[in-house]
Amino acid sequence: MKKALILINAYSKLKSAMNQPTRLKEELKKLGVEVDIRPNSIDTAMIIDGRPVSLLQDYDFVVYLDKDKYTSALLEKSGLRLFNRHEAVLICDDKMDTHIRLTSQGINMPDTIPGLLCYDKDASVQEAKDRIKLIEERLGYPCVIKESYGSLGNKVYCAENKDQLLILMEKVKLKAHLFQNMISTSRGRDVRIIVIGGKAICGMERTSQSDFRSNIELGGRAKPFNMTQPFIEMAERVAHILQLDYCGIDLLFGENGEPIVCEVNSNAFFGAMESITGINVAAIYAKHMYETVYKV
Ligand SMILES: Nc1ncnc2c1ncn2[C@@H]1O[C@H](COP(=O)(O)OP(=O)(O)O)[C@@H](O)[C@H]1O
Ligand SMILES: [Mg+2]
Repeated sequence: MKKALILINAYSKLKSAMNQPTRLKEELKKLGVEVDIRPNSIDTAMIIDGRPVSLLQDYDFVVYLDKDKYTSALLEKSGLRLFNRHEAVLICDDKMDTHIRLTSQGINMPDTIPGLLCYDKDASVQEAKDRIKLIEERLGYPCVIKESYGSLGNKVYCAENKDQLLILMEKVKLKAHLFQNMISTSRGRDVRIIVIGGKAICGMERTSQSDFRSNIELGGRAKPFNMTQPFIEMAERVAHILQLDYCGIDLLFGENGEPIVCEVNSNAFFGAMESITGINVAAIYAKHMYETVYKV
C-alpha cells in the first residue's frame, strides 16, 4: 500500500492552514496514496543513542507543511523523503539567506544589506552612523526594511526618511533583518508564480492602492497573470537553484518590466491561486510527488 504523511505545524489552529493539507490529501488519494494528516509533535523525530530516530518510518514520503527545522532535519536524516526538502525550507524561511543563495547566478534582486546582530536591548542605533550612511548612499529613500523571518507582509516596513529609518532600526535591532532599495516601479504591485517540479504552473498579479506591500492579507487585489517568458524563466531558475519541489515566488517589476526576485515561499498557500486562476495546484503537486517517489 502506498502511504504518505502530511505534517502540519504543532500549534496552528488557523482554519485557512487546513485548506492546504486537506486539498493535498484529496488529490493524493485520487492517485491511490493513503494519507494521514498529523500535527508535528514531540515524538515525531528525536536523537536516541546518538542516532536520528523517527516514529514515522511506515510512510513512503512526508509532505512537510511545517517550517520546524529540527524535525525536518531529523526526519531526513532518518531516511524519509520530504516535500519540500529540509534545506530548501530552511533557506526560504530566512529572506536574507534566500538572497545570499541566489547571488552570482544572474538573478535580479534588490540591492540588499544585511542587518547586523545586536544582543543588547539598550544599544543605541544612533551610534550605527556608518551603517546609516551606507544605507542612505547605497539604497536611498524610500528604502525597505524586512525582518528575515516573516510572512503575509506584516514584517516588511518602509522608511521614507532618516527619522523613520531610525525608528525602524530600533524596532528590529534584536531580530534578524535586512535593508533593501525600494523597487519603485513595483510599488504596491507584484507577481506570485507557483513552480512545481521545476515548471512554472500559474501566476497572479497583486496590486494594492493603499500600501507599498501588495499582499492579499493586507488588502491587495489579485488577478490571473499571463506569464511571459522572462517571468517563467526567472521563477524556474530560482526554484532550480534552491532545489524546491514546490514554491511560490514573489517577483517585482523593474524599470523595463523585467522580473526582480522579492522572496521565495517554500510553503506558499495555494487557495487564492486556485480560485483566481482555476488551476488545480494541489493535483499538479500531488502528481509531482507521486512520480518522484514511485518513479513512474
Ligand atoms: N524591495 C522592495 N521593493 C518594492 N516592494 C517590495 C520590496 N520588498 C517587498 N516589497 C513589497 O512588500 C511585499 C511583502 O514583501 P515580501 O518580501 O514578499 O514579504 P512577505 O513574506 O511578508 O510576503 C511584497 O509582496 C511587495 O509588494
Ligand atoms: Mg511575499
